[in-house]
Amino acid sequence: MNASNINVRFFDVVLCVSRALDLLSPHLSDHHLRTAYVAARLAEEIGLSVVEKQDVVIAGALHDVGALSTTYRLALQDYAVGDQLENIHVHGMEGYLLLREFPPFTRAAEAIRYHHVEWNNERGSEFNGEPVPLASHILHLADRIAVLPESGVHILQQCDNIRRKIVDGVHLRFHPRVVSAFDAVSLSEAFWLDVVSQHKEEIIRERFGQHNVVLDLDELYELARLFGRIIDFRSPFTAIHSSMVAARAERIAQLLGVDTYRTKIIGIAGFLHDLGKLAVPTEILDKPERLTREEMFIVKQHPYYTHRILSTVPGLEEVNAFASLHHERLDGQGYPFRRSEIPLEARIIAAADVFTAVSEHRPYRSGMTRTAALALLDQFVSGGALDGEVVAVVRAHFGDLIRMSQP
Ligand SMILES: [Fe+2]
Ligand SMILES: [Fe+2]
Ligand SMILES: [Fe+2]
Repeated sequence: MNASNINVRFFDVVLCVSRALDLLSPHLSDHHLRTAYVAARLAEEIGLSVVEKQDVVIAGALHDVGALSTTYRLALQDYAVGDQLENIHVHGMEGYLLLREFPPFTRAAEAIRYHHVEWNNERGSEFNGEPVPLASHILHLADRIAVLPESGVHILQQCDNIRRKIVDGVHLRFHPRVVSAFDAVSLSEAFWLDVVSQHKEEIIRERFGQHNVVLDLDELYELARLFGRIIDFRSPFTAIHSSMVAARAERIAQLLGVDTYRTKIIGIAGFLHDLGKLAVPTEILDKPERLTREEMFIVKQHPYYTHRILSTVPGLEEVNAFASLHHERLDGQGYPFRRSEIPLEARIIAAADVFTAVSEHRPYRSGMTRTAALALLDQFVSGGALDGEVVAVVRAHFGDLIRMSQP
């Protein structure tokens, strides 16, 4: 197998992560995709170029990545208070810092940085002495429109009220150019039906996906690495977990003689293995006490969500198989699929995951010593969870693996 076997599109990966960000709570409806759609329509109406429109879609799709807790994310959903929250700009800044690391996201990151700056009679053209890009003002209005539709009431029954609310706010909250664009696009019923449609991913892809380029293996690796950082960033206890699992799984693969292409795919799956954790509230991830039974179920569903999310991206089938089987056991007693036939790549990631987890500090315990970690890994092998050959490599290169830094 060689690099040309990978055939994944850029936009598809962005949109799948966007959907993942809203799994946290049903109350978030599909906030990120909604914002992306509205922002793109506004950008189109304003006459931005194809590339600028794509940046606006990316920014909308990922705009609240910097907002950590469920409580805070839900507060942002309140139209009246959302913009007034204390430290409202912090999550924009965090999102900016995360996303700008990946060059194709630079402009989207800049738009996200100030996406809650109010227009305030032109004062909002600058913030902290820096110019606020038009894309930030587009995002601001799109984000506020996205939170307005009430569930349980037909959208066409609400849209006139929403229109009035926005247009009345001109010169205060929102940029007048963006408000006139909204005034124009929101006249049609189709616009509102799109806003609440269950098929927004396809709608966005069809209408704004002209630049949905195919990623090569290295680009996909870089994108997966960034998403790994987004997953990790949510909890201080797992701040570099996905990166370390990726790095260690790659090293173990090399030591087992796996070829370069497959080693890279293993790295990509390593970065993404806990993608489903985006659906676990930080309040649970960081909880210092024992989890309740219900909280445990919520944590336990994460590899299932990793699987669901990745299965929406054509071309990621292999990555998905390697990523979402990391809590399966060779004896078929793992979760969530209870599979006993587990590909070597997934067995490597499972071992790298356990190894990394036991060497990390967690809210309820400190990292283990070498002896304790090795004893536990052996127990996992004899108990029928992990692959003995893979763990033998871990044992032989323990020091090496522990000292590795994140890729
Ligand atoms: Fe926000
Ligand atoms: Fe938002
Ligand atoms: Fe996991």
